[in-house]
Amino acid sequence: MSTTSTGPFHDRSRQILDQLSDTGQMKSLQMIEGPMDATITLRDHGEVVCLCSNNYLGLSNHPEVVEAAIEGTRRYGAGTSSVRFICGTFEPHERLESRIAEFFGVESAYTFVSCWNANEAIFPTLCEPGDMIISDELNHASIIDGIRLSAVIKKGLKKTVYAHSDLDSLRQKLQAARDDEEVTGAVWVVTDGVFSMEGDIADLPGIRALCDEFGALLVVDDSHGTGVMGPTGRGTHEHHGMAGSDIDFFTGTIGKALGGAAGGFVAGSADGIELLVQRGRPTLFSNALPCSVATSADKAIEILMNEPERVQKLRDNVAYAREGIRGTGFEVLESPTAICPIIVHDTAKAISMSHRLLELGVFVIGFGYPVVPEGEARLRVQISAAHEKEHLDTLIKGLMVLREEYD
Ligand SMILES: Cc1ncc(COP(=O)(O)O)c(C=O)c1O
Repeated sequence: MSTTSTGPFHDRSRQILDQLSDTGQMKSLQMIEGPMDATITLRDHGEVVCLCSNNYLGLSNHPEVVEAAIEGTRRYGAGTSSVRFICGTFEPHERLESRIAEFFGVESAYTFVSCWNANEAIFPTLCEPGDMIISDELNHASIIDGIRLSAVIKKGLKKTVYAHSDLDSLRQKLQAARDDEEVTGAVWVVTDGVFSMEGDIADLPGIRALCDEFGALLVVDDSHGTGVMGPTGRGTHEHHGMAGSDIDFFTGTIGKALGGAAGGFVAGSADGIELLVQRGRPTLFSNALPCSVATSADKAIEILMNEPERVQKLRDNVAYAREGIRGTGFEVLESPTAICPIIVHDTAKAISMSHRLLELGVFVIGFGYPVVPEGEARLRVQISAAHEKEHLDTLIKGLMVLREEYD
């Protein structure tokens, strides 16, 4: 007989769910009845402007990207039915990985079924006992968990955190690593390119200079920067005028600007990538990326490389939306990225505001603890190149209504 309806698991899960419900923090999953685009059709709400997806370049429903996925399925079937090193490596993987390496201007790349997986592969595989990993305190959860996992798997591997985007703090940590007799191996510095909840960017030139001074390796997860930042969408390093080769390893996702399906990658030195092929547990013990995703992502990157005007349109939309949001009197965290967090502090208020926006035809999610720190709940608005001015005006009108109703 199942024990999920009685006993300690039942009691504590009920308690957690009741508490979330009583404090207005329960998330409700919205059902989308068509493709991801500038507007989407939500069950029970009809057509709304979507301002919370990662479809930064509007490629998720691009006809050529969709066709590439269909063609990938037609040609290579529905599934790989294997991990990469047994019989799960197909031509589309090879093509996509070459394309990713070319796009970033690095030697090699390897794909995973998600960037979460990529971050759970890179640190436990490439880092060894005697190494030190120094991580920005606001790095994405997948980086945090990947580093935690590596410290469990590799006893004697050390980890520490520096204050968010604080180069003095990073310098102190690098100096401490240099002074630490137990740190006998490599020192790694890890940062998001674009921070997913704040929408701010890492000072990559400053971090690189410190890495060079202390002989450390630099890993950048640019999941929210790829396709968004820099004149040709190469990412946050390009925004700062850096080459891909200035970064030791990139991690990134296919699930955002690059067609939005799913999947992630690590890109960097040929030796580092070969180690992941040989030793990365997420791909030694888990299926390969589906070929339909490899073909659609390849097409998405091809479009991005051929149409930099998409990145410019996104940038124009971001400027227009940020100015409009500021005009409503709301406080939006400043940055050049497509993530515009509007801080409202209280989690229940953020959730209630997002419900009200939905009634006004605007789909924006309210984020609270534990996704962001307690007291820093926010509405996270995300802009896309798929949006037209009318979509952004609908957002601004909705925020004006909130301004009156919630003050
Ligand atoms: C910075 C960062 N890294 C990794 C991920 C995980 O990406 P994926 O959805 O491909 O697992 C995300 C997704 O939110 C992210 O923002």
